[in-house]
Amino acid sequence: MRMPKEFLWGGAIAANQAEGAFREGGRGLSNIDMIPHGKNRQAVKLGNVPHPTLMEGEYYPSHTGIDFYHCFKEDLALLKEMGLKIFRTSISWSRLFPNGDEQVPNTAGLAYYKDLFKACRRNGMEVLVTLAHFDVPMGLVEGYGSWRSRKLIDFFENYAKTCFANFEEVNYWITFNEINIVLHSPFSGAGIAFQPGENQEQIKYQAAHHMLVASAKAVKHLHAMLPNAQIGCMIAGGSFYPYSPDPDDVLKAYNEDRGNTFFIDVQARGYYPSYTARIFNEKNVSLIWGEDDAEILKNTVDFVSFSYYSSRCASSKDLESNEGNVVKSVKNPYLKMSDWGWPIDPVGLRITMNQLYDRYQKPLFIVENGLGAKDEIIDGKISDDYRIEYMSQHIKAMKDGIEDGVELLGYISWGILDLVAASTGEMSKRYGMIYVDKKDDGSGSLERLKKKSFTWYQSVIQSNGAVL
Ligand code: BG6
Repeated sequence: MRMPKEFLWGGAIAANQAEGAFREGGRGLSNIDMIPHGKNRQAVKLGNVPHPTLMEGEYYPSHTGIDFYHCFKEDLALLKEMGLKIFRTSISWSRLFPNGDEQVPNTAGLAYYKDLFKACRRNGMEVLVTLAHFDVPMGLVEGYGSWRSRKLIDFFENYAKTCFANFEEVNYWITFNEINIVLHSPFSGAGIAFQPGENQEQIKYQAAHHMLVASAKAVKHLHAMLPNAQIGCMIAGGSFYPYSPDPDDVLKAYNEDRGNTFFIDVQARGYYPSYTARIFNEKNVSLIWGEDDAEILKNTVDFVSFSYYSSRCASSKDLESNEGNVVKSVKNPYLKMSDWGWPIDPVGLRITMNQLYDRYQKPLFIVENGLGAKDEIIDGKISDDYRIEYMSQHIKAMKDGIEDGVELLGYISWGILDLVAASTGEMSKRYGMIYVDKKDDGSGSLERLKKKSFTWYQSVIQSNGAVL
């Protein structure tokens, strides 16, 4: 089969998991900076700590990340050697607007990202930027309750316009990383912390509505300000399978899928789907709309992007669940698991691609895929054959998806450099093709080392996916 000639092979990181330097260059604190590693992590992430603060004796992995803030020149040189066509990263909102509600951006933050994006282009890579990869300035969390407040729409609009006005070297944009995560991990996904006794569903869906309106406003501005660039939406992807042919399982899987595609339905079609009325009714949710919201939502995205780590499974019965990318899923007996208990399902990638393309008929973009695994250095080398195996199977499935007729802009491997895991805060859960010497407790030299997969991916890219 023939791969599209301009296919964008890439690698991704995110500011909150890689940059570190959390107090440098005038940067303000963000929600992710408040999430410790260890036993207190989950409660903060889920929004069950009403006012998260930095605590003595806790280790906060985002504060130092992998020091990409200082090391980016050397790191980009390695990515150039790998042959990447596109590099995906995010902007730390609080580096540009330290409190979040300023009118004028922090010049040191602007200068940093200008340098970074220019360096990407000099190294021959397109840039894909996510405006909000989970992070929200703490000033907005504390002062406004984050996305539960409508005011966030204006602050985000100002932030997005500032980015479009200053970073013309970026041709691909995503508004929110895995926007559906606001429903599943509200504080880490969107800075939402709950107070006792609140109707959490109401708050989550109202926050989601504000994010959807803010996203559509960003789309509108991008189209006006950078007409040659493209902007997309993104969800944590992976279709739900029914656990059995029992119609109740099939219906359950169908509805679980809608829980995720609801967001794309709005962002790609420009209006709320009719099925939301029943969901809101059942969850006792009553959304407050702004006068122009329906009109603003008509600004639809150019492409639909998603992360894919595994498929999901749903049953109408209460069965054992497995670990996975945040969204809950029943254990699928047909699938093997990763070291972290995430199911491995390359065929599921092809299914997800086909379902999303059938539904939206817009170009897709796989912007995250990879295997979180333990790596061992033996005689100075890392032979990560398990990662190569995982990725080559997924790329094969992706090629099948393209052959099925799906229009796909590119494939981006997650955590191209080892970085902090979003779920657990660990460094030992490694996705990279470039090893970073850092341990879960934060110790380590930060030295970079090419893994076996580095050379493998280099030849995948060189051959445009023919050599796997
Ligand atoms: C996605 C996120 O959820 O999955 C990334 O966009 C994250 O930020 C990735 O790192 C893998 O998840 P984890 O928890 O293994 O880091």
